[in-house]
Amino acid sequence: MCGIIGYIGKKEAIPILINGLKRLEYRGYDSCGVCIHDNNLLKIIKAKGKIVDLEKRIKKENNLNSTIGIAHTRWATHGIPNEINAHPHFSEDNNLAIVHNGIIENYDTIKLLLQKEGYVFKTQTDSEVIAFLVNKFYKKSNNLKDAVLKALTQITGTYGLLVLSKDKREIIVARKGSPIIIGIGKNEFFVASDTSAILEYTKNVIYLDDFEIAKITDTNYEITSLKNQKINKEIHKIKTSLDQIEKSGYKHFMLKEIFEQPEKIKDALSGRIDFKNNRIVLGGICLTKEFFKNINKIVIVACGTSWHCALIGKFVLEKYLRISVEVDYASEFRYRNPIIDENSLVIAISQSGETADTLAAIKEAKEKKAKIFGIVNVVGSTIARTSDCGIYTRAGPEIGVASTKAFTNQLVSLWLLTLFIGQKLNKITEKETKEIINNLNNLPEKIKIVLNESKKIKEIASKFKNSKNFLYLGRGINYPIALEGALKLKEISYIHAEGYPAAEMKHGPIALIDKNMPSVFIINKNKNYDKIISNMQEIKARGGIIISIATKGDEQILKLSDHTIFVPKMDTQFTTFVNVIAMQLLAYYIADHKNCEIDKPRNLAKSVTVE
Ligand code: AGP
Ligand code: GLU
Repeated sequence: MCGIIGYIGKKEAIPILINGLKRLEYRGYDSCGVCIHDNNLLKIIKAKGKIVDLEKRIKKENNLNSTIGIAHTRWATHGIPNEINAHPHFSEDNNLAIVHNGIIENYDTIKLLLQKEGYVFKTQTDSEVIAFLVNKFYKKSNNLKDAVLKALTQITGTYGLLVLSKDKREIIVARKGSPIIIGIGKNEFFVASDTSAILEYTKNVIYLDDFEIAKITDTNYEITSLKNQKINKEIHKIKTSLDQIEKSGYKHFMLKEIFEQPEKIKDALSGRIDFKNNRIVLGGICLTKEFFKNINKIVIVACGTSWHCALIGKFVLEKYLRISVEVDYASEFRYRNPIIDENSLVIAISQSGETADTLAAIKEAKEKKAKIFGIVNVVGSTIARTSDCGIYTRAGPEIGVASTKAFTNQLVSLWLLTLFIGQKLNKITEKETKEIINNLNNLPEKIKIVLNESKKIKEIASKFKNSKNFLYLGRGINYPIALEGALKLKEISYIHAEGYPAAEMKHGPIALIDKNMPSVFIINKNKNYDKIISNMQEIKARGGIIISIATKGDEQILKLSDHTIFVPKMDTQFTTFVNVIAMQLLAYYIADHKNCEIDKPRNLAKSVTVE
């Protein structure tokens, strides 16, 4: 959830740590802090709020010039976000300090035991027990890594952990359930919870796996298991460039990411369509034709926006493959003893590839011998590495907490997968394939047409900045888009919004309709068109305000609606792409008119690495 960065080398640590924290701020941002070596002692500086506040604090200090340090930006799980609870946390004697990402589930038991031994805790966090426990063993052995190993045997829960002691030039790193990478530079090493923090210093990284621990010194790094057995790890080259993680003149990352969608969709398709033979080419699919033939069901697990994409995936996969598809919230899946076996395909969709609920669902599915197919954006992430096979969505780094371009590329990936399996099983005709490929290829141009409507959408948005509630209504394949539109709005503008299948509105939500409750209708020309018109009439009859997302030239909707956003005419199955972009822009501009912190909405974090 939070961001972690560590540095050891010859350069000044603080600028590197602060810079890294700024890049990681989207992962958690309620408080932050750094710890460095300072004249044979450890110095911790913390701040509630943003990294700039921490920077101001640091500027007030004189003569801080350490070449080793650890830092953290927090997303509180235990204890309110204040300066005391901010990480790093000292041991009771200030001899060592830790930063921790995750949750220590048995912290209260450990805390109680340590309190009985006379330890006095200063924070309300679960993490502080790690510092005390490690130090207890460290005092006995003077071996920091051994002390961490011993402490970890007593801890249950999840951790991405960095430990620094005042008298050793080394950083001990451990991982279980929370991502950690080690960056290898020239005469220097970095540790971080994701690559964006260290991209400008090195592109060579090692992905630490669960139950691995590393000792990093000025000249070397050594990775072992929790049983202290040496592990040789591959060094990966990061392909992301620095401009991909910068705002490039846009007011917010979210806006930049919305506008990047035409290009990112091209990236997702690039090299994956063999136009000559009309076939889909996917590299990372290790599953056999035999397996595909025998699939008894497909289950898609995901959370949030990725879950909305899964709902659309159900329409597409079922329509073409005629295989039953279930969609589950990842957090619910494991607790309902799902009926799956070795002939089931479980598709896990995740932008970050680190969502704890989705990982837990994968674990459950693996135990039941199902095959796991990952649709993941972050290369090398835990879900990507845990899946049997999969495809990368190639949306590039998504920094805005509200997911936008990752969603559309997930959807493209689902279409590619449907075509791929359909072709393997001869379930998709040549004609259908051609039509789908054609539609996919036309997406970037169609999306540009919606993006060109942004000025108008901004104007419409200005009228709704004071609304308290919104209803989003769509049908069929566009019902999940209604859900996604509502999620976007509530995440970034704090306006309460609900998504419903349009016809369901009359079964309850209609009670809410009055002049203060705007309804956003997604209404493209399709077989439900007339039915949705009736729903609109029902709202109008009750004095409700209507914003429509409709097909260009639809005069009937224009007349019925208070505001209309036109999207280009296209095959109904592909309208999801343009409709969702209209929704993203509407939510963005409403939030911007309200001066909200769009890229870092309150209480949220980009990747939710706790269950
Ligand atoms: C999307 O706007 C949200 N921030 C959130 O719902 C997100 O989609 C969800 O947490 C899943 O994340 P993932 O795709 O990284 O697994
Ligand atoms: N559980 C820890 C806390 O509440 C760590 C939270 C985080 O991952 O930022 O301090």
